[in-house]
Amino acid sequence: MSLIAEHKTATTDAEILPVLAERWSPRAYTNDPIDETKLAAALEAARWSPSAGNSQPARFIVARRGSAAFDKVAESLMGFNKAWAPKASVLLVGLYTELRDGEGNLRPTPVYDLGQAMSHLSVQAHHDGLHVHQMTGFVADDLAAAFELPADVKPFVVAAIGTVGSPDDLDEVLAERERAPRTRLPLTELVLVNE
Ligand SMILES: Cc1cc2nc3c(=O)[nH]c(=O)nc-3n(C[C@H](O)[C@H](O)[C@H](O)COP(=O)(O)O)c2cc1C
Repeated sequence: MSLIAEHKTATTDAEILPVLAERWSPRAYTNDPIDETKLAAALEAARWSPSAGNSQPARFIVARRGSAAFDKVAESLMGFNKAWAPKASVLLVGLYTELRDGEGNLRPTPVYDLGQAMSHLSVQAHHDGLHVHQMTGFVADDLAAAFELPADVKPFVVAAIGTVGSPDDLDEVLAERERAPRTRLPLTELVLVNE
């Protein structure tokens, strides 16, 4: 299978980096074990993402299929995520450490910083031929309990990572989504002021 899915490649109004146009979130994965070099590169890209004051609040649980950790993450998935995501080679949990200001109030930035880290991870992975599909459809409290996480370490997202597979391996509804083109709002709706 070609790495580039023509039907998933963004039709852009301005020229953007090919990796950004071609990145997409599949639900069909092959059975291959993860390529450890590519996984390490994805995590390294996440490590070098920016964060507020270089606070670096992003944390990760890396769970390879077949491990006890993988089963714990898979168990926490909700609804239809449970059907497709456990077929990926890796389930990676994106977590953030809570940070407080001088008055003890929670800082708002860690979840933003985790998002940036996940974005870097996804783009690096795609560039290297892996696919990433992020999910917030999981029970964070169950996952935190399963890994006995400290109270200030918050699971926020789970990402299925692996090699893209065939939509034929999915049920009809998911297969249809896999074959559908990606869509976005027009930029005119996103840019509120542009003087
Ligand atoms: C924070 C976040 C949460 C998401 N949660 C889910 C989820 O629980 N299940 C799912 O199938 N997809 C989930 N997605 C994937 C989005 O639906 C997907 O990124 C979006 O439809 C755009 O498709 P694309 O990534 O292929 O461009 C999530 C994505 C993000 C960034």
